[in-house]
Amino acid sequence: KNIFIKEDKITKITSQELKADEVIDAKGKIVIPGLIDPHVHFREPGATHKEDFLTGSMAAAAGGITTFLDMPNTSPPTTNMRALDEKRRLAKKSIVNYGFHFGASNDNIAEIEKAENIASVKVYMDYTTGNMKLEEYDALKKIFSCNKTVSVHAENDNVLKAIELIQNSNNALYIAHTSSNRDLHNCIKEKIKNDVFVEVAPHHLFLTKKDIDELGSYAEMKPSLKSKKDQDALWQGIHNGDVDTIATDHAPHTKEEKRESNYPFGVPGCETMLPLLLNALNKKRIELKKIVELCCENPAKIFKIKSKGFIKENFDADLTIIDLDMEKEVRNDELFTKCKWSPFDGWNLKGWPTHTIVNGNIVFQNGKINNIVAKEVDYHE
Ligand code: DOR
Ligand code: ZN
Repeated sequence: KNIFIKEDKITKITSQELKADEVIDAKGKIVIPGLIDPHVHFREPGATHKEDFLTGSMAAAAGGITTFLDMPNTSPPTTNMRALDEKRRLAKKSIVNYGFHFGASNDNIAEIEKAENIASVKVYMDYTTGNMKLEEYDALKKIFSCNKTVSVHAENDNVLKAIELIQNSNNALYIAHTSSNRDLHNCIKEKIKNDVFVEVAPHHLFLTKKDIDELGSYAEMKPSLKSKKDQDALWQGIHNGDVDTIATDHAPHTKEEKRESNYPFGVPGCETMLPLLLNALNKKRIELKKIVELCCENPAKIFKIKSKGFIKENFDADLTIIDLDMEKEVRNDELFTKCKWSPFDGWNLKGWPTHTIVNGNIVFQNGKINNIVAKEVDYHE
C-alpha cells in the first residue's frame, strides 16, 4: 500500500501508484502511526540545563514519537493560566507535536476550570521532583470533580484513594506509571465500573530493582523499580488488555546531579522506548498490534487528541517507519536528550525507527534530525 501525504495530512491510502514530488521507499520496513507519548518532563521553563522543548523533542523524534504531552512539574509549575501561556510560547520550538497536562494545587480550582485545550489535570498524590504533592482531602475532592480527565501520580494506598475520589464524578482517571502488581490489580478491579486507565513505563517493563546494584542512582525514579514478580504482572497486564498505554515518563537529570548524594529521581526514555519494544517484539514478547494500540491509538483515544494515533485518510501525517532487522547499541554519546545518558546504555537492540514524519515533514531520518517546528494538538470535547 501507498500512503499519500499532502501538506500535513494523509490524503489517500491506496495500492495505486499516484504521482508524488517526494517518495520514501519503505520496502522491507513497516509504517506505523507516530507514537504519542502522553507523559514527558521536558523541563522548560525552570530547568533547561536538563532538557528543553527543542532537545526533548529531538529525542522524541529519534524515538519515533510524533506527539508528546508535557507534565506540569516545571518551575514555575503549570498551575495557572499565565504559566500555561508561557509554556505554550516556549514549546513553539518543538519539532514534534505537543500538548500539556495542567497541574493541580491546593487552591487553583478556578484556574483549572479556566484551562482550555489541555490533556488532563495532573495530581501528584505522592512525592516526586517538584513540590506538587497534594494531601488536603477537600482540595482533592474539588479537583476530582472538575469535569476534566484526572491523571495521577499515586502509589499504594493513594491509588485506592484516587479510585475512591473519582467514583462520585463522571471523569476518567488516568493512573500514570503503574509499577506494582498490587497497584495494577487495584486498578483492574475498578475498570469494570469506571473509566480507569492504566499507564506503564518502559523502565518498569525492562528493569527491576536488581538493576540498581549496577546502575545506582541512574536506575532511581518514582515510582521505584520493583521485583521480577511485579514486572511479570505488568507484562501480563499488557497481554490481558488491562494496561492501556505505555509512556516514557522521560525525566532527565544531568549526570552531575545523579552523582550527588541527594540525587533527583527520574530517567530519560524517549529515545529508547520504541527500540526496547521492537526488540521485545523480535523476541516474541509483544506483538506489533499491541505496541501500536498502547503507544499510538490509546493515548489519542484516552486524551481525545484530534486526528492522530491512526493511519487514516484525513488524519494528520504523523508517521514512524520502523526497521525490525536493524540492530544497534544504545549509546549515551549518540543520544539527543540534553542529559546524554540512559539506563539502557550498552544494550544491543534489534528494531529501530528509521524515519519520523511529523505534519508531513521528515524530522528524523537515519540518525539525523531535521529541524522543522511542529504544533500544539487539539482535543475533542
Ligand atoms: O522519577 C520521577 N521523576 N518520577 C516522576 O514522576 C517525575 C520525575 C521528574 O520530574 O523528575
Ligand atoms: Zn512523570
